Amino acid sequence: MDIRVFQDNKDLDAAAASLIAELVAAKPNAVLGLATGSTPVGIYRSLVDTAARSGISFKSVSTYNLDEYVGLTPDNEQSYAYYMNQHLFSKIDIPLNRTFLPDGMSGDLEAHCAAYDAMLEQAGVDLQLLGLGHNGHIGFNEPDSQLSAGTHVVTLDEATREANARFFSSIDEVPRQAVTMGVGSILKAHRILLVVRGADKADIVKRALTGPVTTDCPASLLQTHARVTVLLDREAASLLATGGNEGCSTFASAM
Ligand code: GLP
Repeated sequence: MDIRVFQDNKDLDAAAASLIAELVAAKPNAVLGLATGSTPVGIYRSLVDTAARSGISFKSVSTYNLDEYVGLTPDNEQSYAYYMNQHLFSKIDIPLNRTFLPDGMSGDLEAHCAAYDAMLEQAGVDLQLLGLGHNGHIGFNEPDSQLSAGTHVVTLDEATREANARFFSSIDEVPRQAVTMGVGSILKAHRILLVVRGADKADIVKRALTGPVTTDCPASLLQTHARVTVLLDREAASLLATGGNEGCSTFASAM
């Protein structure tokens, strides 16, 4: 694992955005796996700026999002479809018909999940952006005794609903279910970019990156992937032995 620690969140955003921008510059029809939550907001802002500054076009790029709540329409401000339009799609030149998210409003969620997997399989994700939940979830793959490989419907942990309640007017409005890419689909991406910030995630970062590989911490399965880049702020990295605190330090994980 290539783990980089940043003093400044703007530098972290810029580093993540340049990894994405460099990929698109080198491969104009790149397939991006995208994430939501508070972590990627600054990355998308920086990517929009980088694209405008360097004239990178997303016309031939396609994107597949990790997850979506069940029961929220795309025009609901809390839906991930709305988030993606707001933070990225409306600000770059990507045709909307090249952007895909799971559809939490599908009348036949099981068939929809299978169709989403077939699309992912055919497209082949070049780079998957990931955040990390406090309980070690990636996408909405919650800790469990078994993890699903493919896209599936998940019942959200109460802790996840509580963590995400900040985006809603009350916890009662947070959906109880979501559709998420499975860990197997995530691990099929050619390259994975995990981004984590904040002292409240220091413990789970340590478990995910240096603890045992276990379905109790879905992110720990990233240790089995050959090409993972992890970008952390100092707080999120505070329980790792980083060996350096100035600027950006790069080090190999203890695994
Ligand atoms: C959500 C999303 C995840 C995200 C995680 C962390 O539940 N489904 O994809 O990585 O929470 O979110 P945040 O970046 O807001 O801490």
